[in-house]
Amino acid sequence: MTPAYDVLAPFHIRAERDVALAALRRDDPVHWDPRNGWWLVTRHADVRDVSRTPELFSSEPRGPWHAFESHFSMQAMDGEPHRRHRSVVSRAFTPRMVASLGESALRYADEAIDALPVSRSAEFVSELAVPVPMRIIADMLGVADGDLDSFRRWTDAVVVVAGGQASADDLEEANRSLVEFHGYLGEMVERRRAEPGDDILSRIIEADEEGALAFGGDPARLEANEITDFALFLLVAGNETTRNGISQGMLALFEHPEARRRLAADATLWDTAAGEILRWTTPVRAMRRVAMRDTTLRGRKIEQGQSVVMVYASANQDEEVFDEPQTFRVDRTPNDFLTFGLGTHYCLGANLARLEIRAVLSRVLERVPGIRLATGTAPVESNSALLDGLEELPVEW
Ligand code: HEM
Repeated sequence: MTPAYDVLAPFHIRAERDVALAALRRDDPVHWDPRNGWWLVTRHADVRDVSRTPELFSSEPRGPWHAFESHFSMQAMDGEPHRRHRSVVSRAFTPRMVASLGESALRYADEAIDALPVSRSAEFVSELAVPVPMRIIADMLGVADGDLDSFRRWTDAVVVVAGGQASADDLEEANRSLVEFHGYLGEMVERRRAEPGDDILSRIIEADEEGALAFGGDPARLEANEITDFALFLLVAGNETTRNGISQGMLALFEHPEARRRLAADATLWDTAAGEILRWTTPVRAMRRVAMRDTTLRGRKIEQGQSVVMVYASANQDEEVFDEPQTFRVDRTPNDFLTFGLGTHYCLGANLARLEIRAVLSRVLERVPGIRLATGTAPVESNSALLDGLEELPVEW
């Protein structure tokens, strides 16, 4: 019998999850999950097919899925609206912009390491994994240093809401913070329109104004609230995801001392190691699409309107694609992981996320070479329904 796998379970014991997913890939790769009322697609080839057929598998929020998804900005759009949105926003992710943010990531990683306590013990997630993605997004949005404390509070609120597992009280408090954040972003957009800065938000506003011409005038422009929604989406898309890649990447290096030793000795391995950390950790466990008409996938009949969940955590372990998928190899090539999705919605922040993960972990190995899991402790998994990550990782050195 196939072991149960619930893609929304807040966390999974890795070994048990892997057995369940391997069984699904082997015995029932397109699996109807009656509890949640959607299909689970677990093989690499099928996740690719679903991702590459947006006209058949829609990203718009219809049918059952994770509660917060309906506000997911461009990630929840199809066709022309998505193309328009992406064409504006992608102009803010130029290689030059990303390289410059990568430099900042190294600086922020160094500052986080400088601030570590002299006691030689720390909580890795809050002190080393949280600050870098958060400050990078603050830079992208042009948040002033004086607003960073509020920004951290808003960021935490997004994590609470996005986790999907918070108590009613926590959710209410978090939603209040988000309303405040929305107000702040609205003012910021207006300010940047009047006085552009050197940040990505200004680039997006500029690109939007130019794009309006390319797309035939005013109706093609993004509304002010679409820009604020996008800014909020950046927090969801680029913050906790990257944080989880960093913290789980650190854990993977603790658990694989030989890989860690090789990386510490040969920094050129980071080119492939960052990819392997992304495959191994798969911070976004899955994404959802909705069938636009009746279709079949691997012989299973999918009806129009049914949800199809692409389980990246499984595709990234598919034995048909990866040699010894259960082995963590810092020199893995090729490495055709699907951590960032594929096709029209392929992650816009993929290169940036790679740079951030590499910046933090490489600087930590270099400057805190004795770092290890604190004696007598264990990592605490985060309580999220969509993202795989760590709440706490106690370390000492
Ligand atoms: C390890 C970190 C990250 C992971 C695992 C990740 C994962 C993903 C995935 C799986 C998608 C595709 C969603 C779909 O197909 O429905 C996506 C889309 C997206 N990501 Fe990321 N992401 C990460 C970091 C970032 C960062 C740092 C940013 C920006 C600062 C970012 C911005 C975006 C945007 C804008 C989209 C939407 C693209 C579209 O809909 O066309 N991501 N990401």
